Amino acid sequence: MSKFSKLNLQTSDDARKIAKKRLPKMAFDYFDGAALTEYGEFLGRQAIKEIRLAPKVLARGANREINHTILGHKTDIPFGIAPMGMCNLSHPSADKIIAKAGAYFNTPVCFSTMASTAMEDTIKLTDGNGWFQLYVYDDLKAGFNMAERASKAGYETLILTVDVPDLGRRPRELRQNFKVPWWPSISQFIDCAIHPSWSISMLMSGGSPAPANFKNLPPFRRDRPRAGADWDFLKKLRDSWKGNLIVKGVLDPKDAKKIKELGIDAIYVSGHGARQLDSLPAPIIQLPKIRKAVGKNYPLLFDTGVRNGEDVVKAYASGADFVMLGRPILYALGADGERGLKTIINYISKEIQVTLAQIGLAKISEVNPTNLIT
Ligand SMILES: Cc1cc2nc3c(=O)[nH]c(=O)nc-3n(C[C@H](O)[C@H](O)[C@H](O)COP(=O)(O)O)c2cc1C
Repeated sequence: MSKFSKLNLQTSDDARKIAKKRLPKMAFDYFDGAALTEYGEFLGRQAIKEIRLAPKVLARGANREINHTILGHKTDIPFGIAPMGMCNLSHPSADKIIAKAGAYFNTPVCFSTMASTAMEDTIKLTDGNGWFQLYVYDDLKAGFNMAERASKAGYETLILTVDVPDLGRRPRELRQNFKVPWWPSISQFIDCAIHPSWSISMLMSGGSPAPANFKNLPPFRRDRPRAGADWDFLKKLRDSWKGNLIVKGVLDPKDAKKIKELGIDAIYVSGHGARQLDSLPAPIIQLPKIRKAVGKNYPLLFDTGVRNGEDVVKAYASGADFVMLGRPILYALGADGERGLKTIINYISKEIQVTLAQIGLAKISEVNPTNLIT
């Protein structure tokens, strides 16, 4: 398969526009929507845009190295794929395409508890690049069991997401009556009928995607509270999980310090794409504050609002040790499946190299706060 899409996909925004046309409104609004007024979602992106990088000239060297290491894991590119539930609504094989992209680009790809492909099936395709993301509902024992199952499946890195104590109100999803598992209402049926290529591909691959990690468990309810996890749970999970443990959804420096003191391997600074709290601070603004709280050498991952290669470099300059991409991955998959995904990842990688050249650096690992105009 060609590395690049034949569609004119130059940016994640191009992919978003094409996905918006290709996908039924119900699916697109599930990916694209955010909490309440969606100002928090806009602000997350805008705050990254506002950051300016310091150009430097006459720094020799044609090769710009973008390979990196996170938690002892060597990667070919300095960004991975964030955990996202129900990715298969963008393309019927999205989870598997993501898994294969992990192997192809040799970079971490994280599968959600809410994925619509079983965790045992995705990890096999990642060539060691698969991470698992855990949601803990009101039943703590079920949470430990899910982690144990991930370990048995071969996952060595677990991300515990802690910013969904209750599901955010996302008006666009609610207006579309989006439900998981999903069965079309009359208006959704019409929506699907006017997007035949999406609907036929879904039908041919067995119908509407459903959460696949809940087989043999009590029936899945998406709005079930996910507030079971507290500090005590985190301590116990740290004791029982032998691999790398990352806590995702942290925006407060004091929380970050406390998490580090519990022996957690890394913190994932994230605003969940403002799908949870509309009034959240821009995650990129919190990142340097969290870096200051946890010190120089403690691993920090970052997501929310990253849309291109310059954004990735800005996150590194603001204190990140690794970056994860969220919505752009779903836009790319929705626009053109595997080719769309590879195209966007290749272009963002290229943009990172060009940006390094502009700021006079040879390696992504050299990016630091002096590359920012303050
Ligand atoms: C459709 C969708 C589903 C998501 N599902 C999950 C999930 O299951 N677990 C999780 O930790 N984060 C989830 N997230 C949040 C992402 O991991 C990530 O934090 C977010 O997408 C970053 O914001 P951005 O995409 O605007 O850059 C989801 C995000 C989207 C867009």
